[in-house]
Amino acid sequence: KQRVLTGITTTGTPHLGNYVGAIRPAIRSSERDDAQSFYFLADYHALIKCQDPEQVHQSTREIAATWLALGLNTDKAVFYRQSDIPEIPELCWLLTCMAAKGLMNRAHAYKAAVAANMEAGEDPDFGVTMGLYSYPVLMAADILMFNANEVPVGKDQIQHVEMARDIAARFNHHYGDHFVLPEAKVDDHVAVLQGLDGRKMSKSYNNTIPLFLPEKKLKKHINKIKTNLLEPGDPKDPDDSTVFQIWQAFATPEQTDEMRTAFAEGIAWGEAKKQLFELVNGQLGEARERYEALLANPTHIEEVLQAGAEKARKESREFIGKLREAVGIRPIR
Ligand code: TYM
Repeated sequence: KQRVLTGITTTGTPHLGNYVGAIRPAIRSSERDDAQSFYFLADYHALIKCQDPEQVHQSTREIAATWLALGLNTDKAVFYRQSDIPEIPELCWLLTCMAAKGLMNRAHAYKAAVAANMEAGEDPDFGVTMGLYSYPVLMAADILMFNANEVPVGKDQIQHVEMARDIAARFNHHYGDHFVLPEAKVDDHVAVLQGLDGRKMSKSYNNTIPLFLPEKKLKKHINKIKTNLLEPGDPKDPDDSTVFQIWQAFATPEQTDEMRTAFAEGIAWGEAKKQLFELVNGQLGEARERYEALLANPTHIEEVLQAGAEKARKESREFIGKLREAVGIRPIR
C-alpha cells in the first residue's frame, strides 16, 4: 500500500491555500483503497514561529475541526497531533546527526530570514533560532517516522520533502535500508494559491482568506482581492488575476473555460468577484456548519486526536525501537 502523509502547522486559522494545496488532495487520497494516510497537526513546528501558547492551542483545535468538517474519515486515515507522538522528536535527533549542515543552509525559510536581516542591515542570524534552522529535520522526522512515500503539499514545501529524502538516503547508507524515500506530490493545476494582495496566500503575509469565514465576511474578503484598474467592458487577462486563479482552484474545467471567456469579454471585477464568492461559498457552506458545531465541542476533538495518536504510536513505538537498535543505542519500546 502507498503511504500518504501530510501536516499543517498550527499557527493560525486554515485558509483557502491550505485547503486547495494540502487538505483537499489529502482527503481525496484518504479515500483510496490502495493507500494508507497519515495526517497530523504540526504543533511542534508551530513553536518555531509562534510564542503565544493560546494561539497554538486555538489553532490546533481549528485545524483539527477543519479536517473533520471537510469529511476526513478517521477510521481510515490516521489523524493525530505531532506532539502526542514522542517518538517524532526522538527520531528528529537521530536524523539531526545525519543531516548535513550545508543542506540546512540552503533551506528557503532560513535563507529568507537571513536575506531579510541583511536587507535591514542587521546581523544575518538575528532572531534565527535553531528551531528555524533545523525545521526541515523535524519535518523529515514527521515523514520518515511513518515511512510515507507520498507527501501531498503545496509548492512551497517541495524543498523540505527533498531534504527529507536526502537525510533518509544518508541514514540508509549508514545503517541499512530503514526508510522509504518520500516524494512530494503537488497538484500542478493549483500550484500556489495567491492571497488578497497577489502574493502567495500565507499566514505570515496576512493576506489570507480563512476557509470557514462566515458568509458575509467571506464576501467582504473576496471583494478585497486586489485587481487592476480595468473597467467593465475592458478585456482582462485571466493569467494575471488572483480572482481568476482562485476561481480555477475551485471550478470545473468547463467553468474555468467559461470564466476565461468572460474575462476576454470584459466581465466587471465586481461581477467576477460575486461569482467567485458564490462558487466558493457553495462548496464550503455545509462544511462550515459542521466546523462551527465541532469547534463548540472541543472534548470530541480531543477524543478523536487521542484515538489517532494511539493508532500512530502503535507504529512509531515499534519503529523507533528498530531504529535505536540500528544506531547502537538500547532499543526500548
Ligand atoms: P503550512 O502549515 O505552512 O501549510 C500547510 C499546507 O498548505 C500548503 N499551502 C499552500 N498551498 C497552496 N497555496 C498556498 N498559498 C499555500 N499555503 C500553504 C503548504 O504547502 C502545505 O502543504 N512545514 C509544513 C507542515 C509540515 C509538513 C510536515 C508537511 C510539518 N511536517 C510533513 C508535510 C509533511 C508547513 O509549514 O505547512
